Amino acid sequence: MKKFFEQSPAIRWKDDRLELLDQRILPARHEFLPLDDVESVADAIKDMVVRGAPAIGITAAYGVVLAARKRYAESPENWTQLINNDLECLAASRPTAVNLFWAIENMRKAIDGYQGGDPVPALLELAMKIHEDDIQANRTMGEYGADLIVQHCRDRGIERCSVLTHCNAGALATGGYGTALGVIRSAYARGIIDHVYADETRPWLQGARLTAWELLQDDIPVTLLADGACAHLMKQQKIDWVIVGSDRIAGNGDVANKIGTYTTAVAAHHHDVQFMVVAPTSTIDMSLMDGDDIPIESRQSDEILYVSGYRVAADGAEAWNPVFDVTPAKLVSAIVTENGVVQAPDAEKMANLMC
Ligand code: MRU
Repeated sequence: MKKFFEQSPAIRWKDDRLELLDQRILPARHEFLPLDDVESVADAIKDMVVRGAPAIGITAAYGVVLAARKRYAESPENWTQLINNDLECLAASRPTAVNLFWAIENMRKAIDGYQGGDPVPALLELAMKIHEDDIQANRTMGEYGADLIVQHCRDRGIERCSVLTHCNAGALATGGYGTALGVIRSAYARGIIDHVYADETRPWLQGARLTAWELLQDDIPVTLLADGACAHLMKQQKIDWVIVGSDRIAGNGDVANKIGTYTTAVAAHHHDVQFMVVAPTSTIDMSLMDGDDIPIESRQSDEILYVSGYRVAADGAEAWNPVFDVTPAKLVSAIVTENGVVQAPDAEKMANLMC
């Protein structure tokens, strides 16, 4: 039987439009939202219909195709100028995931090289290539990450490892297969995973709603825990590896990811637990020397004050809602990319990877 990530992509181009699996209502409902114009694509990214750094980038690439179709129909002579506002509208949707800007930049280069005629077929081909390349990168990273786990088992004379993941860095967050969950899928298939734990990931509950659902679709058992429980779990020696994705990695190996990742990394360091970051090279931003310059998205306080539409916080309480944090490179055991693995990352090793 086909696995979940093969039969159910979260992003698809169908009947000349973009369709996104609406991740706001998973796992209760499995519905696709059809999108015909670039403004709705930008809104879908902002509103978290689609989320996860690579998935946001792929979605934006298809958004550029929709924009080109409209602008070319309006003015075959001036569409390459008219589309600038559309690219800006997409770029303004979410600030942290660099894959968004990477994908827009790739589409922009293709627009700059426009030679005349209908631009849509070539741009659609490029968007589909960005999508397909991401899936291939995830499969490669899955194997590299699983190799690290095999090595770890050998070094310690154990048969299997238990892992903890944070947020959702799976098929839902990418073109398919997943980054962190790609490693977990590959390692599980090799029989070297003892147990998968997932942080529930407040406030959007990507762990409880999406990671748990996605793993269970592939018959991979998962145990959820409250975000604050991770140090307690590690203290009991129940975790060998933390495996997470990333939204942006700076030139020195500092890693931005879902809020709470840093907490998990600090706890992992304290308990001698390995910390693996799995991300394609499109997530690496060599223009930033370190993580201090990574823009961190802040979302509305209602996401903290309310749960499923009900106010749970005391009346009058205010909330602070940064949705990403930065884990310093010194807390990272390995960064796994499709181009190779960087152990104990630093600026020199990152530069070698990216050259
Ligand atoms: O706010 P989200 O759900 O878009 O945050 C997603 C994450 O933090 C993921 O871990 C990251 O984008 C990597 S996805 C492969």
